[in-house]
Amino acid sequence: MADEQLLAQLNKTLQSEYRTIFQYVQNSYMVKGMRRPAMVGWLRGMVQKEMQDAFKLADKIVSLGGIPTTEVPEITHSTKSEVILSESLSLEEAAVEEYQECIRLAAASGDIALRVFLEGALASAEEDAEEVRKMLEEE
Ligand SMILES: [Fe+2]
Repeated sequence: MADEQLLAQLNKTLQSEYRTIFQYVQNSYMVKGMRRPAMVGWLRGMVQKEMQDAFKLADKIVSLGGIPTTEVPEITHSTKSEVILSESLSLEEAAVEEYQECIRLAAASGDIALRVFLEGALASAEEDAEEVRKMLEEE
């Protein structure tokens, strides 16, 4: 039986991924203003990327004997790209923390594929956060 704490943390991280995915989808529908075309493209591209992480997380949860969560936390609604980007930064920074905790708990598991995936997902969340920080800076 897999470590219950690790399974719980993987599920918590999956829930955060779902929140991010639905938030980005909703933001891509609602965003207004001159930046809309760029924001829609960026947000929907991010959704594809985050979905790949969600698939891998859920597959791994099942492999470890767990049941992937179907709970999606509440999302927010905004038409303003500045607000959307600030929230995106918070979501990516939260993902960094979630994956760091997963890596800490997985360290003792000996599951190399899990650790490689988690490190890749952590690096990806860090890169996403870096990119959003640049988008929030003055031109
Ligand atoms: Fe991300």
